[in-house]
Amino acid sequence: MRKRWASSAGLAFGGDYNPEQWPRHVWAEDLELMQQAGVNLVSVAIFSWAWLEPEEGRYEFTWLDDVIAGLDDAGIAVDLATATASPPPWLTTRHPEVLPVTAEGVRLHHGSRQAWCPSSPVFRERAVALAGAMAERYGHHDGVVLWHVSNELGCHNAQCHCDVSVAAFRRWLEDRHGDLDELNEAWGTAFWSQRYGSWDEVSTPRATPTFRNPGQVLDYRRFCSDELLDHYRAERDAIRRHDRDTPITTNFMVQRFISDLDYWSWADEVDVVTNDHYLDAADPDAHVELAFSADVCRGLARGREWLLLEHSTSAVNWQPRNVPKRPGQLLRNSLQHVARGSDGALFFQWRASVRGAEAFHSALVPHAGTDTWVWEEAVELGDALRRLGPVSGRPVDAQVALLFDWQSWWASELPGRPSQDTDYRRHVEEAHGACWRAGVTVDVLPPDGEFERYDVVVVPHLYLAADGVARRLSAQVEGGGHVLVTYLSGIVDPDGTAVRTGGYPGAFRELLGIRVEEFHPLLPDQRITLDDGTTATTWIERLHLAGAEPVTSYADGPLEGVPAVTRRRVGDGTAWYVACRLDRDGMDRLVHALLTAAGRPPRPPAPGLEQVVRSGDGSAPVRFAINHGPADADVEVEGRDLLTDERVGPVVVVPAGGVRVVEEAVP
Ligand code: GAL
Repeated sequence: MRKRWASSAGLAFGGDYNPEQWPRHVWAEDLELMQQAGVNLVSVAIFSWAWLEPEEGRYEFTWLDDVIAGLDDAGIAVDLATATASPPPWLTTRHPEVLPVTAEGVRLHHGSRQAWCPSSPVFRERAVALAGAMAERYGHHDGVVLWHVSNELGCHNAQCHCDVSVAAFRRWLEDRHGDLDELNEAWGTAFWSQRYGSWDEVSTPRATPTFRNPGQVLDYRRFCSDELLDHYRAERDAIRRHDRDTPITTNFMVQRFISDLDYWSWADEVDVVTNDHYLDAADPDAHVELAFSADVCRGLARGREWLLLEHSTSAVNWQPRNVPKRPGQLLRNSLQHVARGSDGALFFQWRASVRGAEAFHSALVPHAGTDTWVWEEAVELGDALRRLGPVSGRPVDAQVALLFDWQSWWASELPGRPSQDTDYRRHVEEAHGACWRAGVTVDVLPPDGEFERYDVVVVPHLYLAADGVARRLSAQVEGGGHVLVTYLSGIVDPDGTAVRTGGYPGAFRELLGIRVEEFHPLLPDQRITLDDGTTATTWIERLHLAGAEPVTSYADGPLEGVPAVTRRRVGDGTAWYVACRLDRDGMDRLVHALLTAAGRPPRPPAPGLEQVVRSGDGSAPVRFAINHGPADADVEVEGRDLLTDERVGPVVVVPAGGVRVVEEAVP
């Protein structure tokens, strides 16, 4: 690639820029303020289709020419959207068949955004035409350094049940299963008289009187992810026909609220992994969830650069209660992403809108203007990112691998499951959170990733597992590795079929030296005590030892005396299993024991203190110390404080709510 999306010496800083919402005199002020804050990259034209193509086939680019030229003159690079995220009213009025249809058969209307069916050939044709026209006009503009296909593909329209989607789903199924016999077998259609005799009878999982077929739902979710990926590829290829140099991305949504796309299958299709991340305002530990999402992005990037393309300066406007961030948090959250590998931090959006559905969403320039903590902190962040430029491109040091899988997420939510209280993403986060509190940095990998490079592998709630994963983990333990598997793993195979014989956790039984006879979900207020004083909620299992030793057992409740945590030793290796949802203390003890078994007993940092190191071949390690806690914390490190350019150490104080970034002196 000829171009790079951030200046070669630095980190990116900026946000979504929507000048079409403002009169031109505001554009001049925008540029001035952007320069003041040190903005160097903005995402433009994301929702501009109706402005760029006011009628079918008539493009109107001159206003965008002016926007890009103005930014370029001001030294601000452009992440240019293909502008196809939201179809203009003429398109859905003239071609109502592009509008998506819900499982209940309701065709949705124009009037918000993303009102398009991912399988619609009409939509695809118009979107590809616009993406191509954009690339033809701007592909060779030096100011355009990144292409941004659509926006958050699948955020609102991942699932469509129109007739076109049904036909596309049948084609996808034929590809996957070959013939109807295979499909009938995989979906278990012998149950409830669902056997299909002809492809015309097969549909997307539309609304039904009761539970839908789980195999059908699982395949449909795969289909939805693949269908949007196809759409991405079509726009990407349209750009490539005119522009061979500029990197292309689409912004992923690796976050707790959204599970529709299997980004492991998307990651290699983008030149740069980019992500949008929003905190859950109701979660006091949202910064730990942020760390997990950032670690997933780094895993998706597989050693390449990645970039946080959107987060919020303060409150969002789409949660039940949109609590603002506290002063200090904008900087902390941004540098957390950078610490975990993002080569910059961008926001939604530059200037807060005054009309439209997101008028009350925070921005870099709030309604209250520049005399605000948000603006002051944005300026501070711009300065910090400039000073941290040298970390750009440097890898993150991680000690533990954790397996994460969208297909397990989907499978764990299929109809008819044992408890509605289990929550794949949260259970994974709980395992990751224990590593976070232990002060250990985690690399997140797909189940078929190269986890052999790590001596400790955490496998939380891997509900859907192919046999190969268990075989590789067994070899890992036999070679002296340490593996922790948590409850509800290995329950179904890739078709969604429950393990046939011998009990749970299916493929992992031998590795772990246990056999689970029966699940025992707990009621909402039920709490079970373990014999080490920790507790379990939500989930316990009737477990038998088959080669493993008990570590802790239930001290009360329906399974009193039954092992809750087990360990199987194999030479120098260990395989651990936890059969229940442990409280925080229990998870912390378990991770401590696991790391100690691996010969690396953790030294947990002060509560709320996060430390991550980015280092590269031959370059000095850069230690990020981010204090989310209420009290100042000491860190033993010596070197140059990159934010103040002073020599510091051997002990550095990280103020409560503050951040220090030290390039360590290499002895
Ligand atoms: C993202 C989206 C932006 C904006 C933002 C608000 O999902 O890409 O356009 O809507 O959320 O938080």
